[in-house]
Amino acid sequence: MSTTDGGPWWRSAVIYQVYPRSFADANGDGIGDIDGIRAHLGHLRDLGIDAIWMSPWYPSPMADAGYDVADFRDIDPVFGTLAGAEALVEEAHAVGIRMIVDIVPNHISSEHPWFKAALAAPSAKERDYFWFRPGRGANGDEMPTDWRGEFGGTTWTRTPDGLWYLHLFTPEQPDLNWDHPDVRAEFESILRFWFDRGVDGIRIDSAALLFKDKDLPEVRDGAPHPFHDLDEVHDVYRAWRRVADSYDGDRALIGEVWMPDVERFANYLRPDELHAAFNFDLLGCAWDPALMRASIDRTLDAHAAVGAPATWVLSNHDVTRHVTRYGREDTTFSFDNNLDGTPVDLELGTRRARAAALLSLSLPGATYLYQGDELGLWENENIPPSSFQDPMWARRGHSRDGCRVPLPWSGDEPPFGFSTASPWLPQPPEWKGLTVEAQTGDPNSMLSLYRSAIALRREEPGLHRAEMAWLDLHPQVLAYCRGANFACVVNMSGASIPLPDHETSLLASGPLDGDRLPPDTAVWLRLS
Ligand code: NOJ
Ligand code: CA
Repeated sequence: MSTTDGGPWWRSAVIYQVYPRSFADANGDGIGDIDGIRAHLGHLRDLGIDAIWMSPWYPSPMADAGYDVADFRDIDPVFGTLAGAEALVEEAHAVGIRMIVDIVPNHISSEHPWFKAALAAPSAKERDYFWFRPGRGANGDEMPTDWRGEFGGTTWTRTPDGLWYLHLFTPEQPDLNWDHPDVRAEFESILRFWFDRGVDGIRIDSAALLFKDKDLPEVRDGAPHPFHDLDEVHDVYRAWRRVADSYDGDRALIGEVWMPDVERFANYLRPDELHAAFNFDLLGCAWDPALMRASIDRTLDAHAAVGAPATWVLSNHDVTRHVTRYGREDTTFSFDNNLDGTPVDLELGTRRARAAALLSLSLPGATYLYQGDELGLWENENIPPSSFQDPMWARRGHSRDGCRVPLPWSGDEPPFGFSTASPWLPQPPEWKGLTVEAQTGDPNSMLSLYRSAIALRREEPGLHRAEMAWLDLHPQVLAYCRGANFACVVNMSGASIPLPDHETSLLASGPLDGDRLPPDTAVWLRLS
């Protein structure tokens, strides 16, 4: 398990997100599972990744695709068994791949024994593990606040005894009360449960939402937010860091922190808190050299201030796949700007996604791939709404299912080797050229590009250093050096540009035009 900068692995790893429902189905029920992942570990080994981040695989009623956890110490039968999960950790380690599991501390499933006990009796001690409050108005039938949910919609549900409970996501995901010591103790014990099973890291869901202002003020401009990024949260992560540090072998804590303020974001990465956090700044950024350069600088500066590694993410199970984003006229991403159904040029999007792969794999820090990025999958925008399973659809009119479609492995038609049954979400028949089988051995495929780039990233000394230096070649071009003689050049202009002086071209995202770099193409160069 090599790292690229000599430091701990999490500073520079290539981390691959497995979304277990959609990776590979071994038992023929149309839903991906642990045995499917075990059967396809060779794909991940050949891709050259350092670690897998596994989206939730715990017992769950699946009100939010497993982000509604009923038991953090077991595996949902749809995915397999705890013994299977332990075997996967061992088998991944045997081929040099580390394992990161996903922990969801902000809320649990309404089917979790704690919430069931809390509902069963007003006097139950579990009541205090949640946010039960009386309503407003003469009969208490108005919600305690007008807070808007993270998926849109309201955030309180009334129980038969007249009180309301808080849920920042769906009613099936009651928020936990992190002021309660039992909640803290329980999660520290859950971390130990997984660290004891050899996992190398924990991805922390909705890491900035845990605490709420007990006075329940409304959200107001200029006032501190009642449930985003309250200072108390840092205490929890300091305690978690002590747990992680008590294990051998560089166990890492990686936060999902959506936060526009980069300084507040960096607070989570102080030396005694989380090791890393997902940086979504670049993901939301338009395909625009000046904006991307500013985003990269902002990110590197914020991380440098706390000595943490930057992270780069282009896609995940929550956002529109970047082949689709980069093929639209508006190439930004934000949950508040629904671009579903706007025209997409998939060829352009794919060209840019190839260039973006070379960009994100050559910036200093760790890079995250979402399963299917390596195949150049696009968002399936043709899923009939009647098949949508994502609870966001009802609340925001946008479904995340389009990026969660099962992977195409082989063959000419759906289910493309994913399953022997009909997959839980439909695959576009046009993916027949994008299967792992079709792309393997094709030197021009997205898969070959990713494999070559990840292999070069391991070997290239310039990419093992923390620094980068911008090269000012052209206003519409992103170009930078890593070390003395490695450069990455991304042409975001509408015309080809001359390449800077160089010894060799190491890898290009598309054909070069002699010594010129065509539009929407990136190249890695050995400088002379
Ligand atoms: C963030 C996860 O990535 C997302 O999929 C989930 O819906 C929310 N947290 C709620 O757990
Ligand atoms: Ca299955």
